[in-house]
Order: sequence, then C-alpha cells, then structure tokens
Amino acid sequence: MEYAALKNTGVWETLSVVGKRCYLPPGILFWSARGREEAEINATLGTARGPEKEIIQGGSEKSITFYLPCLRNFFQELEPDEIFAYAPLAGLPKFRAAWREWTLYKLSSHREKLASLMSQPVVVPGISSALFVAARLFLDQAEKFVTTDLRWVNVDNIFCRNIGAEIVPFALFDGVKFNTEGMKEALFSTSEQGKKVVLLLNLPNNPAGFLPSESDAQEIKKALVEVAEEAGKWVVVLLDDAYEGYVYEEGILRNSLFGMLTGAHPRLLVVKLDGVSKELLFYGGRVGAVTFGLPEGLQEEIIPDIRSELEAKVAAISRSTFSSAPRVVQELAARVLEAREDFLQERRAVIEVLKERYRILKQALQELKSPLIRPLPFNSGFFAFLHLQGIRASDFAEHLITKYKVGVIPWEGPGVNGIRIAFCGVEAESLPKVVECIKKTADDLTP
Ligand SMILES: Cc1ncc(COP(=O)(O)O)c(C=O)c1O
Repeated sequence: MEYAALKNTGVWETLSVVGKRCYLPPGILFWSARGREEAEINATLGTARGPEKEIIQGGSEKSITFYLPCLRNFFQELEPDEIFAYAPLAGLPKFRAAWREWTLYKLSSHREKLASLMSQPVVVPGISSALFVAARLFLDQAEKFVTTDLRWVNVDNIFCRNIGAEIVPFALFDGVKFNTEGMKEALFSTSEQGKKVVLLLNLPNNPAGFLPSESDAQEIKKALVEVAEEAGKWVVVLLDDAYEGYVYEEGILRNSLFGMLTGAHPRLLVVKLDGVSKELLFYGGRVGAVTFGLPEGLQEEIIPDIRSELEAKVAAISRSTFSSAPRVVQELAARVLEAREDFLQERRAVIEVLKERYRILKQALQELKSPLIRPLPFNSGFFAFLHLQGIRASDFAEHLITKYKVGVIPWEGPGVNGIRIAFCGVEAESLPKVVECIKKTADDLTP
C-alpha cells in the first residue's frame, strides 16, 4: 500500500517515525487471499486443516481447522467469572503453572536443571506478542541481532520496522545441515556493538519446516558457548518455538533447544517464546508465553530474584502495550494441559495426519527433477520450501495459481528466492498433484 490518501492530505506528517515505518508487507496477505479465492488446491495457509473425519472418529467430510475436541468440550464447563473477568497481567496462575509443567514434561531429560533455572512463563497475547516483548526487552533502535535468512516475515515487521533493530542474517542451511558456522560468524560480527549479542532461532522453521539433528543441536550449543566465552559478551538466545512438537523423523531434535541451552554458560540467557496457537491448535486463542532459562553458575539464593525480576520486566512491557491476555483461553488451556493424556492422544491424531502428508510430499518431491527447483531439506513443522533458480519466485507462484490453480507463498529476499508449500492445509491425496503442477510450471517457464 502506498498510503497515497494519507500522504496527499498531509495526515502522513502526523505519524511518528515508527508509524511511518510500519507497513504490512503485501506478500503473505496478498498470496493467501489469492489462494483462498482462486486456488483449487490452496497451500498458502499456515494452519493445520482438513476433513473433520481425519482427526475425529465419526467426523464429517467438511474441511475444518483441526482442533482438540477436549478443549472444545471444556467450553461448556466455564463459569461466568472464568470467561468475563480480566486475567492477571502476567497470566492466570493455574495456566502459568500448567504451561511450566508442560515445558518440563516436553524437556524431561533436562527437568532437574530446568526446575531451578527456568522462570515461570509470563503470558502475552500470542507468540507474535512474545516476539515483540523479547525484541522490546533486548534490542534498541539500530541495534543488530542475528537470525536466519529463511524466517517468518513478521520477524522483519516486529524487530525491524516496529522496534528499529537490524538483522544480520546467516544462511539457515549449510548443504543439508543447520549452518552452525554461519551462525557463529554472524554472532561474532555483531559482538563489537555492546555488552551482548542477540540471536533469534525458529526451529521447526517457518518457511523451511526444518529441525537440526540431535548431534547438530549439540554443535549449536557448543558454538553459542564458544561465542559467549571468546567474545566475552552476553549471548541472548530467543527461541521461537511456535511449531514445537511437530516432528516427523527420528534422530532430529524432538523439542526446543531451551533445555539444552539453559544453564549452558554463565553469560548465556535463553528466552523461550511459545504458545497455544499451534501446540494446542488454538490459533485464534491469542495466548503465548515468555519463559526465561537462566545462565550457569548463579548463587542459589539469587535465582528466585532473577527469575521474578525478569518476569516483572515482561509484565511491564505487557502493561505498557497490549496488557493482559484473554482469560477464557487460559482457563481452557489450563484444563487441557491438566488432562494431558486425552490432550496428547487427540493431538497425536493431528500429528499423524501431518506426518502422512509430509511423507507423501517428500516422496513426490524426491521424484521432481527440474533445473529450476531445489527442494530444501524438511522434516518437521507445517511447511516445505523449494528454492528456485533462474526465475523470480513471485512469477513462478503467479503462473502456478493462474494456470494450474495451486496457491503457494513466494518468498523473496537477500539470498532467498523460493516458494513455501503449507502441507498443513492440503489433504494427502492432493499433494502429488501440487508437485505435478509445480513441475509443469517449471517446464512451462524453463527458457
Ligand atoms: C514462526 C512463527 N512464529 C510465531 C508465529 C505467531 O504465532 P501467534 O499466532 O501465536 O502470534 C507464527 C505464526 O504463524 C510463526 O509462523
């Protein structure tokens, strides 16, 4: 949008620097609207969906956003005060306790360490807000931070256009592996600027649907410890764990790096950013969490104070921006997490559906041969990414949707040119057709 009316009328001049700087990049919104309107197969949407019968016995053919039936049932139990009252600023105590316990359950091999070094989660309205709070807390205008070249586009909205920080990118992949060396170099390159370096990692990654292997995860930890040691600065690691738990292969990291990185070095501070959107399949619930993992070597007596002071900092940013998160969702989510066996069983049904789609898509992509297309490794999350050579990703996506009625999201940026296939929203039987149409598009467009 050019904001022509604002500019022509002079209203533009009333806007602050940030007001002028913020805009909604047309990419995802534009292409997902086109996917909805024009596509016969729509692989643009970042929500898990499909026929109800795929996840619920006796369910209908109707395509729905996949949800947890136990969560839906809890709606009926709620008392008026659990629906209409405010939640405390830092979150409902029983939800905070349940989310903490959920994190400890997921990272059970680190349970002992985390029980002491992990803060209480502080609740914010969605993972987007968690990212905003983290950016606000740790980064100033023009301050550099490190993240991957392949990243969720809203990172640029939040961290750069809103907060004013600057990205130092590194390539997510080194061949088929996580690019630990690139990450390390980028961190060292920002280490002159102040008392800390800041890293944002999103694994499983949007748009690449990628998690490192367990041994690569160990290498990541080693590299971060090395940066903290050799640069002599604090290392702040922000973990966007939006897609935690959607894992389709053996031998790769099963859960967040948070467990491994907490307490790994006296100058390593870890911040886990997660929420109910994907983990509890409650995208519109708008409940996220910010949880700190403390450094190594703190004196026992000081730990409770550091935890509560960091939690208070998050609450202060919340209070001065969006205030508390929805009460009703926290009430529901707390009940779901307490009924863990039912919840896990229902969620497993969704993960199995996604895993089957992943398997079929992966097989179809293995058979896809085109000089224009290089599928990037994927093993988790909601997406797959195809790198394109010799053609602009948006031209490719345009041809794919107009001629073959398949909607995908093109991704273009420094070092990045490709399309994202959101297999989370496409039925398994349609995925070979998606790949076939991609192949035909590549053939049509090959000079
Ligand atoms: C990588 C990543 N992080 C964060 C979010 C934001 O999640 P929420 O809807 O909870 O704000 C998304 C949403 O798509 C995402 O893809």
